Amino acid sequence: MANQEDIFKDIISHSKEYGFIFQSSEIYDGLSAVYDYGQMGAELKKNLREYWWKAMVQMHENIVGIDAAIFMHPTTWKASGHVDAFNDPLIDNKDSKKRYRADVLIEDHLAKIEAKIQKEVDKAKERFADKFEEAQFRATNARVLENQAKIDAINKRFKDALESNNLTEVRQIIVDCEIVCPISGSKNWTDVRQFNLMFSTAMGSVSEDANIIYLRPETAQGIFVNFLNVQKSGRMKIPFGIAQTGKAFRNEIVARQFIFRMREFEQMEMQFFVRPGTEMEWYNYWKETRMKWHQSLGFGEANYRFHDHLKLAHYANAACDIEFGFPFGFKELEGIHSRTDFDLKAHEQHSGKKLQYFDPELNQNYVPYVVETSVGLDRLFLAVLSKAYTEEKLEDGTSRVVLNIPAFLAPIKVAILPLLKRDGLPEKAREIINTLKFDHACAYDEKDAIGKRYRRQDAIGTPFCITVDHQSLEDNTVTIRYRDTMQQERVSIDALPQLIDDKVSFKKALRSLA
Ligand code: GAP
Repeated sequence: MANQEDIFKDIISHSKEYGFIFQSSEIYDGLSAVYDYGQMGAELKKNLREYWWKAMVQMHENIVGIDAAIFMHPTTWKASGHVDAFNDPLIDNKDSKKRYRADVLIEDHLAKIEAKIQKEVDKAKERFADKFEEAQFRATNARVLENQAKIDAINKRFKDALESNNLTEVRQIIVDCEIVCPISGSKNWTDVRQFNLMFSTAMGSVSEDANIIYLRPETAQGIFVNFLNVQKSGRMKIPFGIAQTGKAFRNEIVARQFIFRMREFEQMEMQFFVRPGTEMEWYNYWKETRMKWHQSLGFGEANYRFHDHLKLAHYANAACDIEFGFPFGFKELEGIHSRTDFDLKAHEQHSGKKLQYFDPELNQNYVPYVVETSVGLDRLFLAVLSKAYTEEKLEDGTSRVVLNIPAFLAPIKVAILPLLKRDGLPEKAREIINTLKFDHACAYDEKDAIGKRYRRQDAIGTPFCITVDHQSLEDNTVTIRYRDTMQQERVSIDALPQLIDDKVSFKKALRSLA
């Protein structure tokens, strides 16, 4: 059986071969950690965005959506803390001249120790078979305990160093752990420095400092600065939410794992404004609601888990991630943060404008508290793609690659395939497309044998293939073939719109959230 690393490589090459994702500027050898979505990828991404938007905005009377600009007044980023504190600790290896994130070097080192523990566990599992009790083994085996103690000690030192912003100590941890540069193999490290992740550019004249503006590193601030505009113009009553989707930019130093960590990516964020003191109730509500949304995609509950943040950002009083089982392990897919009144208060201070809400029930003005949900659209795309990608061995000894994308999210919903390129079959096929295309993304394909055409549609995840044959001209019926089961049935052409509508509309998925 192929290992996860090989499967991940297959997914990346499949994405390129079938028009989902291309390396940006590939003809110039590409731009690192920047990707373009191709003809299939753009459709799937649009559908994921739409599902999020419908679930968050259309399904909630008290949530509205906006579309703020990427460029914002530079003081926004001073107020939000990004100018002073949106940093990664970096270290260079003097021999290879390669730059690394110090925290990633330490995390990788910890992962190696964790792998040693896992090896002991796997060995014991094999030895004791059914009698194996993993929890007990982990709690008592001397080698496991010794390695776990190492992990805990490094973690504590690292957390303390970061909290006190002690970069000398961060470097010392790297030295003490004898971490070597993966390229040069040497331990010849520079000091650790903080590096701001925001991209900046100049607006107007380049010579003046005041004209430096940033490409937003999160969409959330566009919501905070518009809080009162939306509240007043929409006559919104607390609790209410403002949602938006859009591009964000971060100068990530360690950009890896395909579209998991990019320098230009898209976020889907919602800020939920609540009465102070009720934020934990709403935090728990949004944790549960967002988890349910992810699980509604049908990839199995075991692929999702919560990870509570032990170390909270200065603005948060609770925070967690929804993690997903990517081919390279469980990693953050979405963040849910109780951000208190930090952002609105900071914008009040820096702008000199009041950002308060008059609560008619309490007869009182206050700065609302905020619970935020923030999911990366590209990460969501990768989650869907990696679980949908299936290499299947078929009963007749052949194999196929199929993308089991939920039908309502599939880039192409239905492919219409005339069996032959003559005898009026293409014309009949076009007639069918001309009725279906008003509601659904359709594809027409008359090239190659029908089996080959089915495989092409399987590979892009098209849930339905409709084959037009000579019988279609006589009795107005076609065969419909289902992607997942490969079963075929004969149906009336008149029944197609209803049959397809039922299976590809967002309605069923949205109803499951209620
Ligand atoms: N407003 C809160 C915020 O931006 P975050 O945890 O930094 O929080 C939220 O980002 C989500 O955005 C993450 O859970 C992830 O899905 C996505 N994300 C963050 N950085 C990313 C990157 N470099 N590439 C792709 N997605 C990213």
